[in-house]
Amino acid sequence: MSGVVTVAYIGATILFILALGGLSHPETARRGNLYGMVGMSIALLATVLGVVTDHHLLLVLGLIVGGAIGIILARRVQMTQMPELVAILHSLVGLAAVLVGFANFMDPEVHFEGVEQTIHDIEVYLSILIGAVTFSGSVIAFGKLSGKISGAPLVIPGRHWLNLGLLIITIVVGWQFVNESANAGIGITSGLNPLIIMTAVALLFGIHMVMAIGGADMPVVVSMLNSYSGWAAAATGFMLSNNLLIVTGALVGSSGAILSYIMCRAMNRKFLAVIAGGFGTSDSASKGDSAVQGEAIAIESIEVASLLSGAKEIMIIPGYGMAVAQAQHTVCEITKVLRSKGINVRFGIHPVAGRMPGHMNVLLAEARVPYDIVFEMDEINQDFSNVDVSIIIGANDIVNPSAQEEPDSPIAGMPVLEAWKGKATVVLKRSMATGYAGVQNPLFFKENTRMLFGDARESLDAVLREL
Ligand code: TAP
Repeated sequence: MSGVVTVAYIGATILFILALGGLSHPETARRGNLYGMVGMSIALLATVLGVVTDHHLLLVLGLIVGGAIGIILARRVQMTQMPELVAILHSLVGLAAVLVGFANFMDPEVHFEGVEQTIHDIEVYLSILIGAVTFSGSVIAFGKLSGKISGAPLVIPGRHWLNLGLLIITIVVGWQFVNESANAGIGITSGLNPLIIMTAVALLFGIHMVMAIGGADMPVVVSMLNSYSGWAAAATGFMLSNNLLIVTGALVGSSGAILSYIMCRAMNRKFLAVIAGGFGTSDSASKGDSAVQGEAIAIESIEVASLLSGAKEIMIIPGYGMAVAQAQHTVCEITKVLRSKGINVRFGIHPVAGRMPGHMNVLLAEARVPYDIVFEMDEINQDFSNVDVSIIIGANDIVNPSAQEEPDSPIAGMPVLEAWKGKATVVLKRSMATGYAGVQNPLFFKENTRMLFGDARESLDAVLREL
């Protein structure tokens, strides 16, 4: 049986790697997803039938209950709530690592001797440590993303010292744990107290770490917790000697780390500065308002239609509001009409537009916008001087010039799409409300900007009719 399981595990590993490869491009993403689903089904089957336990009935019961909850949640969740769902799912990975760690440590049937015992204890310790940080951090991230907890960072005086203190306690208690466990007689479990103390410290650290991170840096937090959940799974894999869990955990851990790096670069942040927290305070957000002067000029859909018809170069910049309004299909229709008139239409995608990595790409792919007219920010940001009309659909922070012009702004230094450099800009949103970072946007008050107020989908439907 173990030979079959090994072959199944190797097959699943290959499928996971193919899945990651597929997900790197919208055109192959569906196939990538399929590989992932098949890989995970094989892995689950092999694990259930092959290695875990003899209590198959219990296991199948767990699978049915867990699977049912998963299906209900996935069906109910709106696309815009995806990041919250991802955060809460990460917390479950962390919780599983903690529970399996304790169960494994207290299992009388699991015992090693000498160095092997110490290595196993370190695996248990790390698995519970990373799992507990992931669990509590993800629960707080869920709270922040769903608006249940304020997005403003909690900045405790001396917070770096607090973090350092928690780190030192973790190391000292870890040393105590390994010693107590090594000195206990065979078959005796010793070291539970230090393990419980470390778990409490790690839970506290996870809460403090994410509470200290400001709203504007949440994209990095989501990908960072994604990475942690992978490392927690990999550590559990070492503890259980399960190769597939090690490989899968490492894949998730490293891809999450790469994504965090990309997110940091997109927001012009240093990873350590994000973790240290304190950016994106709502207090400092108000500082950005000083530069905003003048009046925003409204425009009607009929005027927008004639502006678009008269243009040669159009840039569409979608943001979170397009996702809320589910306007992507109308956007695609408008694009078709304009292109049929010989107008060059392109899309400019900011790396943190929306609420999750690739959010806009997914929506545009769903509406079947051709991939070859969708460009990353870096590819088109220098082209705005040639653009006749930029049309901004429910985007705000990602086109905010104060990121470049106001050093005090919470989003200062974040690269943005420089729409104001085009000849004319039309902004579609419902009101003058701020975006995710809570900063007012001077773009709305520029001379060549016009505001088309209303739900993005309704506004675009009207523009499409006029066209
Ligand atoms: P935001 O800055 O959040 O702005 C979205 C705008 O859409 C709002 O100002 C809102 O204005 C408008 N809107 C909402 N519903 C609408 C509707 N039905 N019709 C028309 N407009 C609507 O979005 P963005 O420009 O995409 O920037 C993303 C922000 O989210 C960044 O600050 C980023 O750091 C953060 N974030 C990103 C991620 C990832 S990974 N992408 C994750 C977490 C956080 P009205 O209310 O006036 O309509």
